[in-house]
Amino acid sequence: MSDAHFGAPDQDALVSAAEAALTEKPQHRTLLIEHGGRRYIAKRLAERPRRLMQTLFMRWLVNRITGQPLPMRTLALSESASSMDYEAQRIATLAAAGARVPRIAHRTNEYLLLEHCGTVVASLLEKWAPDTWRSELPRMARELGEFHAAGLWHGGAQIKNVTLQDGSFTRIDFEENFGEFLPLPVTQTADLLLFLNSVSLAGPIDEAESRRILPLLLKEYLDAHADPAGILDTLNRARPLLGHIVGAARPFRRYTRKSYRRMVIIIDTLDQQLSAA
Ligand SMILES: Nc1ncnc2c1ncn2[C@@H]1O[C@H](COP(=O)(O)OP(=O)(O)O)[C@@H](O)[C@H]1O
Ligand SMILES: [Mg+2]
Repeated sequence: MSDAHFGAPDQDALVSAAEAALTEKPQHRTLLIEHGGRRYIAKRLAERPRRLMQTLFMRWLVNRITGQPLPMRTLALSESASSMDYEAQRIATLAAAGARVPRIAHRTNEYLLLEHCGTVVASLLEKWAPDTWRSELPRMARELGEFHAAGLWHGGAQIKNVTLQDGSFTRIDFEENFGEFLPLPVTQTADLLLFLNSVSLAGPIDEAESRRILPLLLKEYLDAHADPAGILDTLNRARPLLGHIVGAARPFRRYTRKSYRRMVIIIDTLDQQLSAA
């Protein structure tokens, strides 16, 4: 079963090499495979069914933000989608829509063999000079805006799920399926907040730099999104909830210091930009 085969000299030898590596390192979820002068990532299935608390929280959140209750049946059904097939299907759909995603060299029910697409931005950022992050991160924000403008969603747009190679970003990791049953602007807003939150206080980006760059990233994103009205509406509806969450987390902030500080930075960024928009 190898769709989108992209010209490896000997597919059978590649598959054998990947399966040998997967057998040898059962504790690894993803493995780098080098074969025939090319690099691949073997990614095996991880069973991570959504837990009841998570499902209930999601249902409450959607109801608060959209005013529409989500039937539990929809949420429960969506769990059956969690297989390698689901991620392979998402990659195929996104590729057909023109998004940059890894090509699939081989797939089975247990693992996917993906084209290696460079290093994830979260790792690159650790070593980037200020000049580099100040140009690359806004470029990423614009790219996310354009991706959303095409009617697409990632489901996990953090900088650890986007690679960069030869100047091109590639989105990876499509196991999250909440976009299948949430309204598109809500899913896209989740992508946006996950992206912003993953930049905030990451690597060399300290508090002052986070507070400088996040508003810029939000603005670049909104400018690139052809129709940001739904995003702005969702952000405005989510804003009071974020305030409540921060309020509730305040007594525990010594224990969750970084996530607490990130949340405060996000809220301040939204307040600054939403009143300006
Ligand atoms: N196509 C790819 N190209 C390069 N690196 C990849 C690729 N797919 C996965 N990786 C690497 O493997 C890591 C884990 O893969 P990912 O799909 O994000 O799974 P998860 O986060 O669910 O474990 C990524 O953070 C990245 O470092
Ligand atoms: Mg990931």
